[in-house]
Amino acid sequence: MRISVIGAGYVGLTTAACLAQIGHSVFCSESDIDKLAKLQTGVMPLFEPHLEKIIESTRKAGQLQFGSTEEAIDWGRAIFICVGTPPLANGDADLSAIEAVARAVAKRAKGHRLVIEKSTVPVQTGSQLRRHLSVHKNNGSNYDVASNPEFLREGSAVEDFLHPSRIVVGADSPAAAELLREIYEPIIHQTFQCPVHSTCLNRKEPVFLLTDTNSAELIKHASNSFLAMKISFINMVANLCEVVGADVTKVAEGMGLDGRIGSAFLSPGIGFGGFCFPKDVQAFIRIAEKSGCDFSLLREVEKINQRRIEHLVEKVRNELWVLRGKKIAVWGLAFKPDTDDVRFAPSIGLIRSLLAEGATISAYDPQATEKAKAVLPEITYSVDPYQAAQGADAVVIVTEWDEFRSVNWERLRSAVQHPLIVDGRNLFNSQEVIQKGFHYVSIGRSSAHFVREDSFDSLPKDRPGGKAPEAVLQDASVGLD
Ligand code: UGA
Repeated sequence: MRISVIGAGYVGLTTAACLAQIGHSVFCSESDIDKLAKLQTGVMPLFEPHLEKIIESTRKAGQLQFGSTEEAIDWGRAIFICVGTPPLANGDADLSAIEAVARAVAKRAKGHRLVIEKSTVPVQTGSQLRRHLSVHKNNGSNYDVASNPEFLREGSAVEDFLHPSRIVVGADSPAAAELLREIYEPIIHQTFQCPVHSTCLNRKEPVFLLTDTNSAELIKHASNSFLAMKISFINMVANLCEVVGADVTKVAEGMGLDGRIGSAFLSPGIGFGGFCFPKDVQAFIRIAEKSGCDFSLLREVEKINQRRIEHLVEKVRNELWVLRGKKIAVWGLAFKPDTDDVRFAPSIGLIRSLLAEGATISAYDPQATEKAKAVLPEITYSVDPYQAAQGADAVVIVTEWDEFRSVNWERLRSAVQHPLIVDGRNLFNSQEVIQKGFHYVSIGRSSAHFVREDSFDSLPKDRPGGKAPEAVLQDASVGLD
């Protein structure tokens, strides 16, 4: 089928490439001229595992092209809108890009088009879109509108698109629903050639859930808000664990074993970031407010999340006392691993707080350095984690990249000035870290301090709390796994 995708961000680009991969003839448009030029010359504007390979092969096969919005409108029988819906100052989603696309489609399209909203939008956007298209339409054109929210995660976008657990379609006409079923047929029955794994194990057929447009829109916002709530919940449990001397990893494991709860999204840390959860929770609160529903539960979710950065800074301060003049190595800038995206990344807020207290920062990220430089030009960027840690008073882990899990401890020990790891993602077993000669502070677990056998001087004696080395050593044995 000839399909158009408008907007080549993470969602649009993945949608276009994967629809081409499963056999459709796809035209993807991008309004950013530089980005479009990159795509037309085979240069990736973003990092997402497997995507480059799929784009390259589908372009070569003539299944995927890039160009202008006008060309996209002319091309597709079905048009997926995948433009950004960033937050406004009041928390509402900014729908101006969606409106602009609707206007362009109405002005230009000839004949019948199925217009599909894939961007995350507030409930009732589909009705607005339908109204807008019929008010502005030119003679001889007519439209169906559907909502088809996307549940892909950055970092595993291709996998999530091609092997989803559910495909949600909100359509108010049987014809629109049928067309979308046809588009997704190869995914519904998992009959396509998987570009990622030659013998793909994850071939479970997804549920094709058909609903009305409003419900489909709500499914998306409610799902993201629920997942955000799970994260804030476990982060509060982590705070409690720190006070009472329990281990949040074990608590989360125990909770997750209950099938009704599930273990996913129960990893505590420095809080959720990225271009989805923070803005979607905000937008969902606004939607509820405007509908007269008090969703203060989500306000708490947001507040808890906002306090995570200060919580981690506090941990660094507890260890180093005064931050002015201290050198902090920050490992990880992307809001999560396997992406180069730093939008609403906790690393940004953390680094700004540390800078405000007079610390100097040297940061390392395997993919996100270029994007971070545009937001944080004032810090030093390193080519590997050891260079970042050179002469550092603390290494703060912000993103759980696999590369950090296989750290060479000896190399790191000889690079740092003071052997302290403050781990915002609980990458390590406390005992393992102190055995390597580091003090280890993590989330929701007791801090573990290394004490050299031959010396009582390895820790500052005037640490807050005034703990004697013996007491500190006792800490190290608390909560070890
Ligand atoms: C999220 C949803 O998971 C997708 O289903 C959805 O399609 C997407 O938003 C979207 O709306 O477009 P994404 O933002 O890519 O996907 O990333 P997630 O893997 O959900 O992580 C979001 C944030 O939560 C990250 O900062 C991550 O570090 C944090 N997180 C996640 C935790 O702190 N703890 C966890 O247990 C899980």
